[in-house]
Amino acid sequence: TWSMTTFIEDEIKRIRETVGDKKVLCALSGGVDSSVVAALIHKAIGDQLTCMFVDHGLLRKGEAESVMETFAEKFSMRVIKIDARRRFLDKLKGVTDPEQKRKIIGNEFIYVFDEEASKLTDMEFLAQGTLYTDIVESGTATAHTIKSHHNVGGLPEDMKFKLIEPLKTLFKDEVRKLGTELGLPDEIVWRQPFPGPGLGIRVLGEVTEEKLEIVRESDAILREEIAKAGLDREIWQYFTALPDMKSVGVMGDVRTYSYTVGIRAVTSIDGMTADWARIPWDVLERISTRIVNEVENVNRVVYDITSKPPATIEWE
Ligand code: XMP
Repeated sequence: TWSMTTFIEDEIKRIRETVGDKKVLCALSGGVDSSVVAALIHKAIGDQLTCMFVDHGLLRKGEAESVMETFAEKFSMRVIKIDARRRFLDKLKGVTDPEQKRKIIGNEFIYVFDEEASKLTDMEFLAQGTLYTDIVESGTATAHTIKSHHNVGGLPEDMKFKLIEPLKTLFKDEVRKLGTELGLPDEIVWRQPFPGPGLGIRVLGEVTEEKLEIVRESDAILREEIAKAGLDREIWQYFTALPDMKSVGVMGDVRTYSYTVGIRAVTSIDGMTADWARIPWDVLERISTRIVNEVENVNRVVYDITSKPPATIEWE
């Protein structure tokens, strides 16, 4: 039978043999897979590993800080943080089409990573969090194309690195177990699915810093209240989205004209189909009240009650 301890011991041995005294680069995204790869390889070769974390400004509130805290501080890894927030915002300026936005974010990620990686001349290997399911899904040309276009973090194939993919025999639930075994915190190991283009597709229409701030703040409130209500493991995915619209409201005796925040929360097995989550009304009420009170420039909160299909989980 498969044992986690044996897996870790075997992989550590294998990684050491493969890498020798050379250096390994790993792109950290804050997601489960890249985090577990980094932790595993670090356990095997310590400071021969350098992680690169590209902050594109499209992560949720506190995520960039939490990546640095976990890996740079708690695990004492070498982590290079690239602040590319301005660069991504500039590229997204005036762009409203969802697929266009995805492409821009994906491409920009590759440019930034490539540019920064080429400054590190002594890296021989690149570590990637490829899972068994990724390989199976890329079995056909079509699936491969979908995947590579779909994911930020898909890297160009002409890179000079040799690849190491120590998770490629594992399923997601095994990766989570491995993460816990390696001492990663629950917030990383049990992170809900988060799209590569991040908040870039949760701000509908043109992405601006003002709108990103509204999504970050309202989403943080939603996550906090869902956790407090003990619903965070039951709901597959929950987040806020910001439609590109304003509506009229009233505050005191002043008429307001501000943004509407949409709440999306779904139950699902694999994300292919989904049902809207029956969040208790009192929890929804707390979330709504807090969002309009605490997030500037928001006067209305709506709850998405459509299933997938016909709607998708994300709003873009
Ligand atoms: P939809 O919105 O298509 O989402 O019902 C299904 C699942 O996929 C995630 N998703 C993405 N993940 N890049 C990703 O890495 C993307 O462009 C993307 N679009 C959607 C979504 O969050 C859900 O878990």
